[in-house]
Amino acid sequence: MPKSYKIAVIAGDGIGPEVVREGVRVLERIAAIEGFGVGLTRFPFGAEHYLKTKEIMPDSAFEEIRGHDAILLGAIGDPRIQVGLLEFGIIARMRFGLDLYVNLRPVKLYAEHLCPLKDKRPEDVDFAVVRENTEDAYAGMYGYFKKGTPDEIATQEILFTRKGVERIIRFAFELARRRGRGKKLTLVDKANAVRAMDLWTRTFEEVGREYPDIARDHAYIDAATMWCVKNPEWFDTVVTSNMFGDILTDLAAMIQGGLGVAASGNLHPGRVSLFEPIHGSAPKYAGKNVASPIATVMAVQMMLDYLGEKRAAQRIEEAVAGLLRTKRIPSLGSDSGLGTGAVGDLVLGELERAKVPA
Ligand code: IPM
Ligand code: MN
Repeated sequence: MPKSYKIAVIAGDGIGPEVVREGVRVLERIAAIEGFGVGLTRFPFGAEHYLKTKEIMPDSAFEEIRGHDAILLGAIGDPRIQVGLLEFGIIARMRFGLDLYVNLRPVKLYAEHLCPLKDKRPEDVDFAVVRENTEDAYAGMYGYFKKGTPDEIATQEILFTRKGVERIIRFAFELARRRGRGKKLTLVDKANAVRAMDLWTRTFEEVGREYPDIARDHAYIDAATMWCVKNPEWFDTVVTSNMFGDILTDLAAMIQGGLGVAASGNLHPGRVSLFEPIHGSAPKYAGKNVASPIATVMAVQMMLDYLGEKRAAQRIEEAVAGLLRTKRIPSLGSDSGLGTGAVGDLVLGELERAKVPA
């Protein structure tokens, strides 16, 4: 019997539903081509649902989601709702609740004309950022004292655990080995100012001894942002903390063609994992059929790769890369001249043609 995957789909807010619609079309088509099944369960969570019902994500739904093979998320965030409420109630809830400790963000340039950097070609921009996804300032340990008075104090803890740091570093070394490209892992931190990051320095060194085939490199986060623009070819695999990874990957998305192409996987190897475009809900483009669905298509690509459907993943990547290289998809912005659905149609058309090993 052919394999079948249970996929939870949360389209979310803003442009989320439009881009997820195209991502799901690609998922269903590729399943038919490659001969596996997909069973979708759609969940309504997001701003509209919250405004109607006051429900963010009930425990029963969370438990149901946990029983799936993977999750596809569009985008969360709406200007009508208090900052952080849905982000924490939905995105962080799943990242923390499902212990998705890896946020994997590939940075790959598919076509030279999409790169805003002068003289950088696809072979110069091909690295992976491994962002820790469950600790740091995101752990939500914050508070106020004398709130609203001139003497107000606000604190938020940056926290790292040995277990958390070790598992992300280990994942990154393994990935550097699998990528087999530069066989180099760069630790990005700020241990010169945030002295608690010495835990990263020591753990990187210790775990690194188990990977003599992988060269160890280091950059402080401020310098790393500079290198990312100046010499992106220096990076192969990068490992970093949650907040620095958040910032670095928005910058990195720009050098691969923008948020219209950048995808990410929130992973716990061996368990249900979540895939999403890096971009947000972009409320001003919502419902206008102008947003690029490519980032979501690439999130589907990462999902299939994670689930072990390597040929399907390769086929999607080939299709997208070809469309970008030949400029049939000329750009990834809302100004590409192609609607969200038209871009989806182009990808569907290419899927059958894409060359993959038998
Ligand atoms: C991301 C987003 C989130 C984050 C926000 C929405 C909380 O920016 O996935 O990168 O900071 O992790
Ligand atoms: Mn971000």
